[in-house]
Amino acid sequence: MSRSRTTYDEYKDTADWLLAQTSRQPRVAVMCGSGLGGLTDWLGDKIEIPYEKIPRFPQSTVAGHEGKLVFGELSSQQCVFMKGRFHFYEGHPIDKVTFPIRVFHLMGVESLIVTNAAGGLNEQFKVGDLMVIKDHLNLPGFAGVNPLIGRNEERFGTRFPCMSNAYDRRYLQHVLDSASELGYRDFMREGVYCMVAGPSYETVAESRMLRMLGVDAVGMSTVPEVVLARHLGMRVLGISLITNRSVMEYDSAVQAEHQEVLQVAQERAQALQGLVARVVEKMK
Ligand code: HPA
Repeated sequence: MSRSRTTYDEYKDTADWLLAQTSRQPRVAVMCGSGLGGLTDWLGDKIEIPYEKIPRFPQSTVAGHEGKLVFGELSSQQCVFMKGRFHFYEGHPIDKVTFPIRVFHLMGVESLIVTNAAGGLNEQFKVGDLMVIKDHLNLPGFAGVNPLIGRNEERFGTRFPCMSNAYDRRYLQHVLDSASELGYRDFMREGVYCMVAGPSYETVAESRMLRMLGVDAVGMSTVPEVVLARHLGMRVLGISLITNRSVMEYDSAVQAEHQEVLQVAQERAQALQGLVARVVEKMK
């Protein structure tokens, strides 16, 4: 199967366009999950660029996800924030979902922070908990949806990239340390994230299956971006906000709902923002 893919020169062209617009060279990229775009409110001296103005950028179509890049300084580090990410379930080809990651790499970004909203499968987790991602399960990858499928571009990375160290251990420790310093230990967790394609939430049988496989939290994003970032040699940190409990019993009155996800995200956004700011400081 041969599909037309974005070429190296096309990624480079978008990166050069952005560098010319901003005259900033970000070192850290932050992807803001559902309802978590408030992370950029704290930035001083920021530059915002709507996705529709950026050459070749896809457009976000989900409520609760804006569509812009924000450049600014956080904890004295130059950062680029993605307010609104692209999901596979929106119908974007998988290489469009991950398009910004290679662009960020070509702009000089070395570290990626991904945040997302996720359903809690671990019995200990409560709605509103934050979970630092220590590993992931790439379920769409098992089914043949991996952004690295196709001819490998050696200028980006190797044909068979290692994923056993996908999430940077030092960054993970920074999160746990920061959570202690900020008094967040009561709602700070650590665990395995699983990506499902969505957009339908999981059935009871699916949630039970994922839990049996060792999954702590489930969501519809993040993993393709992390795979691409690791292919590029970026260091990755992931944090999930547990916005709902996955339904594990047939007689449960609980149902996963997007409105609930957004509301919890809003309530815990401040804490997550504080955490990210503190961790970025430690990344220096
Ligand atoms: N399942 C999948 N994705 C999600 C969930 C969920 O329960 N909550 C937020 N994103």
